[in-house]
Amino acid sequence: MHIHAYEKLWLAASILLILLLIGSVTYGAVGPGIAMVSDTEPAVDAGALDEDDRFSEPRVERVGENEYAAYVVAFQFGFDPDPIVVPEDSRVTFYVTSRDVIHGFEVVGTNANTMVVPGEVSELTVEAEEPGEYGIVCNEYCGAAHHSMEGKLEVVS
Ligand code: CUA
Repeated sequence: MHIHAYEKLWLAASILLILLLIGSVTYGAVGPGIAMVSDTEPAVDAGALDEDDRFSEPRVERVGENEYAAYVVAFQFGFDPDPIVVPEDSRVTFYVTSRDVIHGFEVVGTNANTMVVPGEVSELTVEAEEPGEYGIVCNEYCGAAHHSMEGKLEVVS
């Protein structure tokens, strides 16, 4: 009887250790300093984005005067929506996730640049001032067509 109880305890302890290990590895890969990944955003199920409030329909939403939220899904090999259209002189917060592998999300010509990890939501904010077209590129190797994975941010007047 006592042996059985100890076995359970050890089993629980080793599972906890494994989970802690996995957790620390994940944190190390996406932690602050490497990418601007928000720790406060709830995680998402990368395999069930169709059922997620934010990512089932990737889109731009107005959330305040001159404030917008863009829900973006990265995938092999592109971004959805594409283009992402916002008005000039607005502040856009991007919430980016991946439905397959690790990607990057960089708005060319700005310091907006983050890693995009399946199951995580990367959050970054861009001041969209001047009308124009801005490229969005993936800067994490994600497969054969990585180099051609790009999107567009359109700031319209
Ligand atoms: Cu996606 Cu490289």
